[in-house]
Amino acid sequence: MRYSANVERLQPSATIAVSTLAKRLAEEGRDVINLSAGEPDFDTPRFISDAAVEGIRGGKTRYTPPPGLPPLRKAIAARLSARAGRALDWTGVVVTAGAKQSLFNATFCLFGPGDEVLVAAPFWTSYPDLVMIARAEPAPIFGEEADGFKLTPSALEGASNERTRGLILNTPCNPTGAVYTLDELRALAEWARDRGIWLICDEIYGNIYHEDDRPTAPGLLDLPEDSLGDFVLVDGASKSYAMTGWRAGFSWCAPELAKKFADLQSQITSNTATPSQVAMLEAFSNVDASAASIAEMEAAFRRRRDLVVRRMRELLPDVPFVYPHGAFYLYFRVDHLFDDEVGDATAWCSRLLESTGVALVPGGAFGDDRWARMSYAASDAEIETAMERIAEFVRGS
Ligand SMILES: Cc1ncc(COP(=O)(O)O)c(C=O)c1O
Repeated sequence: MRYSANVERLQPSATIAVSTLAKRLAEEGRDVINLSAGEPDFDTPRFISDAAVEGIRGGKTRYTPPPGLPPLRKAIAARLSARAGRALDWTGVVVTAGAKQSLFNATFCLFGPGDEVLVAAPFWTSYPDLVMIARAEPAPIFGEEADGFKLTPSALEGASNERTRGLILNTPCNPTGAVYTLDELRALAEWARDRGIWLICDEIYGNIYHEDDRPTAPGLLDLPEDSLGDFVLVDGASKSYAMTGWRAGFSWCAPELAKKFADLQSQITSNTATPSQVAMLEAFSNVDASAASIAEMEAAFRRRRDLVVRRMRELLPDVPFVYPHGAFYLYFRVDHLFDDEVGDATAWCSRLLESTGVALVPGGAFGDDRWARMSYAASDAEIETAMERIAEFVRGS
């Protein structure tokens, strides 16, 4: 069968093999601990769900403008403006079906054939594919392992060329949990500004920040305005508010570009589901309730981060890992744990799952199949048991 060049290079996600196996084993009645999921293990806070239900009952079930309900865009802009300390134009907000659609809008509207886009690696699995769907070329670039793979301007300088049109950053990072400091982020933003390169910054985990120096992870809007060139900020409610299934994301960028995003959406999805927008409106306008629920979930993630790091050091002291400052993942190196017969982390993760029931995501999904990612969006007991099983598997293999 012949397909269009649009999807010629589209690959199935590297996570599929393990998740299919995990599902099959669970169906067979095996005791599976699934630490492969990229979503909070909490329910959406009640005040948000209640607002959506009330909205549905009150008839908020029709089309909205493609970029979203104006009160929602204004509420998001108000939050962003408070953070930036300056007024951001609310028409720069485009509400999307998850942060993923914002990323699609950005890559599709900004890049095309002949363009190269730098992708900070290890990367969230969809970035290179989104760039390829736009028929541009993704160029993964790794920072130093000792520095949580964070990039520096000199690394970017070495990786860029005259075709480089964009840079995709993710902080806090999935899969590493690394977080750029304000100074580090500023240096990268200025590098992109000085070269006229679009900066797409995915801050979806910004509220899941495990350090006390500031309330949320540093983001683009914390930077002085003059350090920013052309940029698209991507965020959403999926992770901060445990709303993955609602498909509730947004971007902020210059209104002229936001208009293009809205035009694109008007031709494909029209608008984000209206009840989801009503739910988001509650999340973004009920400041006190949302701060309380974010704080509660973040406290659990932080406790689990501490647990996972402590148990890692106790049970697997020779296994290198990136210390996670945000998000809810532990990224650890497994290549010294397998031999040539196993070959890569994908095969190692499959064996681990077959023999212990613990599901992780192999690093191939993030650009380096010598690593594995464990989600700690799970109960303390599940994390404890999973880590004991992994340690036993490593001792026995
Ligand atoms: C870094 C990153 N960006 C974007 C997304 C997608 O978010 P959403 O579910 O809002 O589309 C994810 C989901 O796992 C993610 O980890």
